[in-house]
Amino acid sequence: MSESWAFYRSSRNWIRIITACQSREYAIRISITVEEVITVSKKIFAYAGVNNPERSYTVRCIQKSIELLRERMDIELNLYTNQELPIQNCQGCLRCFFYGECVLDSQDGFHKIKQEMQNSDFIILGSPVYLHNVSGYMKTFIDRLSYWSHIFALRNKNGLVIATADCSGTYEVNEYLNKALTCFGCSVVGKIELKSCYGINEELYRICAAKIYTGLIKDAKSNEVLEERFHATKQLMIYRENRKVDDEMGSELRYWKETGMLYAGSFSEVLEKGGWKNVC
Ligand SMILES: Cc1cc2nc3c(=O)[nH]c(=O)nc-3n(C[C@H](O)[C@H](O)[C@H](O)COP(=O)(O)O)c2cc1C
Repeated sequence: MSESWAFYRSSRNWIRIITACQSREYAIRISITVEEVITVSKKIFAYAGVNNPERSYTVRCIQKSIELLRERMDIELNLYTNQELPIQNCQGCLRCFFYGECVLDSQDGFHKIKQEMQNSDFIILGSPVYLHNVSGYMKTFIDRLSYWSHIFALRNKNGLVIATADCSGTYEVNEYLNKALTCFGCSVVGKIELKSCYGINEELYRICAAKIYTGLIKDAKSNEVLEERFHATKQLMIYRENRKVDDEMGSELRYWKETGMLYAGSFSEVLEKGGWKNVC
C-alpha cells in the first residue's frame, strides 16, 4: 500500500488530501481522505492617491468593497494614502533603471511598500481625477516604480483600477492606471469609474467586490498588451546581451537571465512557469 498526500487550493482554503493506493494484481483501490482544511487569508495591496482618506470616495470604495468581500473570504487589506505613505518625488537620477534600486527608498521607507506589493495576491490602484489626469500623489507613486516596467515585477498578479471624479475624466485616468499596472506585468481584471454626480452607492461597491473576487480566485492571464510589452522589452535585453558589454544597464539583463524570462517565448509562458524566481 503506498500513501501520498498533496495540497489542493480551493478558492478559500488549502485542503490536504491523503491518497492511499492499493494495487493487488488487477484490482486497484484508491481511497482519498480530506484530512484538514487550512484557511488562507488573501493579501490585497491598495494605494489611493489621496491626501484626505477620511473623506475620500476612492478610499471609501476600496474599504466598502473589501467589507463585502470579507463575507466570502478572509482578506488582509493593506491600504495606503499620502497620509500613511508620504513619498518623495522621483529625482530622475535613473539609478533604479541602472542598478535596480532607488536612493530614496531607504529615506522614505518605500522599499517596504515594494516588498509588500510583491507579497500581495492582488493590487488596487485608485486615483481621484485631477483635471482629467491622476493626482500628483498617484503620479509620484507610479514614477517611483517606473523601472518595474523593464522587469515585470508584478507578473502573476491580478489587479484593479479605480478612478473617482465629480463628473468627468474617469475614463482617461483608468486608461493610464491600467497602462501603468500592465507595464509592471500585472493583469488588470477591472476598471471602476466612480462619479459623484451620478451617485456612489452600494451597487458600485458590489461590482468592485465581484471584480476583486474574480481576480483572487483566478490565475493571472496574459493579454495582447502584456505580450507586446514583453516582446519589446525582451528585444531590448537581447540587444544588450549581443553588445556583450556589462555596463551599468547590466542589472536588468541579469534579472532577465536569473528569472528565466529571457528564455521564454511569450509572456504566457512566463506566467505558466510562475515558479520562476521573483528577485526584485
Ligand atoms: C485639483 C482638482 C482637480 C479636479 N479635476 C476634476 C476633473 O477634471 N473632473 C472632475 O469630474 N472632477 C475633478 N475634481 C474633483 C475630484 O475628482 C473629486 O472631488 C473626487 O471625488 C476626489 O476624489 P476623493 O473623493 O477620493 O478625494 C478635481 C478636484 C481637484 C482637487
